[in-house]
Amino acid sequence: MSDFETIIYEKKNNLACVTLNRPHALNAYNLRMRDELYQVLGAIKDDPEVRVGIFRGAGERAFCAGADLGEFLTAPSPVVARQVRWERDVWGLFLAVTKPLIAALHGYVLGSGLEIALCCDIRLASEDAQFGLPEPGLGIIPAAGGSQTLPRIIGGAKALEMLLSGRWLGAEEAENLKLVNRVVLRKNLIPEAESLAKKIAKFDPAAISCAKQAITRGLDLSLAEGLALEARLVASLQ
Ligand code: COA
Repeated sequence: MSDFETIIYEKKNNLACVTLNRPHALNAYNLRMRDELYQVLGAIKDDPEVRVGIFRGAGERAFCAGADLGEFLTAPSPVVARQVRWERDVWGLFLAVTKPLIAALHGYVLGSGLEIALCCDIRLASEDAQFGLPEPGLGIIPAAGGSQTLPRIIGGAKALEMLLSGRWLGAEEAENLKLVNRVVLRKNLIPEAESLAKKIAKFDPAAISCAKQAITRGLDLSLAEGLALEARLVASLQ
């Protein structure tokens, strides 16, 4: 997996580090990146040596400035676009990973960049991070799960305000809204993400996977269904 063009994939002991690597275009998400992300997500999901994944952006200015505007709506037809989406359901695969995923966010975190971050379990941001959903200004809506993942994290009212008004959030406001777990100094962003990942990787991977599933899957269930899920996960560990 070393011949990627838009991504750097590194395995360090039990950590998988994925760097979005198009810094000249603020790491904009293009079709090639979609295909390469699909491959690395499969590796993270299925490689027993990987216990935690970290997502970061290359360069000084951005985690990811959203979909590549150069490719914007260039699919031959909506039918083809939909077919491609099903064949490469990156977002479904992201959410199917039962190992912990950490997003280390700096600079611009826009559109699909924010949606990638929302597919992760823990978001760390540096002080310079800016979060926004520019889609409505382009006549579209978020299509990488963001319309569903964002309100589940910051609540419907704030998600609606962000999406309808196009207002961006700075790191401090994002932390206040619990969009990010915490804000750190830029120079500490990757060390903090790695240190957190290493801490998690020391625990029993089966227990960690069940803990992630209990919370992420449980959030979409009633309390009774969630308790039944918890009981099944407890039993699966015995
Ligand atoms: N797709 C493709 N290229 C992009 C990009 C995107 N989403 N965002 C930035 N770039 C490219 C720019 O074209 C520019 O390339 P160039 O140096 O070859 O001209 C380079 O990245 C730097 O961006 P620039 O616009 O010069 O930086 P800036 O600091 O003035 O502005 C942003 C930064 C993020 C505000 C601005 O680039 C922007 O609005 N990007 C688009 C965001 C967006 O709408 N994303 C789609 C969401 S659906």
